Amino acid sequence: MAFAAPQIVRGFSSSAVRNVVIKNVTIIGGGQMGAGIAQVAASTGHSVTLVDTSGDILKKSIKMIEGSLKRVTKKKFSDKPEAGEEFIKKVVQKVSTSTDAESAVQGSDLVVEAIVENLKIKQDLFSRLDKLAPPHTIFASNTSSLSICDIASSTNRQDRFGGLHFFNPVAMMKLVEVIGTPATSQDTLDSLLDFSKVLGKTPVSCKDTSGFIVNRLLVPCMMEAVRLYERGDASKEDIDIGMKLGAGYPMGPFELADYVGLDIVKAVIEAFKTKDPNNPLFDSSDLLNKLVAEGKLGIKTGEGFYKYK
Ligand code: CAA
Repeated sequence: MAFAAPQIVRGFSSSAVRNVVIKNVTIIGGGQMGAGIAQVAASTGHSVTLVDTSGDILKKSIKMIEGSLKRVTKKKFSDKPEAGEEFIKKVVQKVSTSTDAESAVQGSDLVVEAIVENLKIKQDLFSRLDKLAPPHTIFASNTSSLSICDIASSTNRQDRFGGLHFFNPVAMMKLVEVIGTPATSQDTLDSLLDFSKVLGKTPVSCKDTSGFIVNRLLVPCMMEAVRLYERGDASKEDIDIGMKLGAGYPMGPFELADYVGLDIVKAVIEAFKTKDPNNPLFDSSDLLNKLVAEGKLGIKTGEGFYKYK
């Protein structure tokens, strides 16, 4: 992972927003995804402001970033540990934190939102930020399941609004889904595609449909695994082994659900159901709902389908 200033060369274009070179990025939401996006953006030379509602949450976010950077550098700088330490220091210095989203966006070229999967909360946030961010600033949501169009409708910059969907763990997963709505300008899409490449990721494009590409396939697969288990057809351990050894998945569906967070899986499937109520693939699961109600959300709470020490 190189530590170099981002360079994006863009051609002439006829739309109102031209030549947006993304240098300053504001990430709203310091959870796993927000912290991961901040880490990768800072590692590739961007100045990052990470925003959340409290200093304590942001301290945890920085700890997460440092922890992940240590794992990355252990491999990348295996023969030069001092260079690794230096790299971590430089990257962390590139991330500032704030609890004031309105101020943070004022110097931003790109705002990436990675907060709770709640349409109203996302709309309220973007509506407030829209009034303060400079005209050239692009807004993007990392939503897993909600419609970008619905989120963007709360702003007056729908041409400068898109989806930028990362995967967990952001430091490792090479894919970014870039989502355009009918209102998203080509310049905005190009900027988001370029930004993803500067991060060292491979972008794919998708229309603003439920779950985009990956979650539309992955989350129903996880739900089918839960249903298979609920029916007593196979144990969760055997289903996980089956998908790892028989389908080449790096994690089985139960391991992955625990890794992503059962609250997230539940929110995604519920959002799909809202858009397409008659599709049986989007039916809820009593077991998943029970675990979430008990606060057993997976690795992050110490228990989900499996227990973690
Ligand atoms: N940060 C930095 N490096 C990491 C890391 C992290 N968070 N996680 C793993 N690594 C690197 C480290 O170098 C690690 O070695 P160390 O343990 O010595 O540090 C190495 O990868 C191997 O890691 P693991 O031994 O833990 O396990 P692994 O080989 O199985 O790799 C994995 C871990 C990359 C997560 C892999 O299991 C995997 O690809 N799993 C599938 C993940 C996936 O499908 N993600 C998408 C989820 S869906 C989503 O995110 C979208 C949504 O909207 C819900």
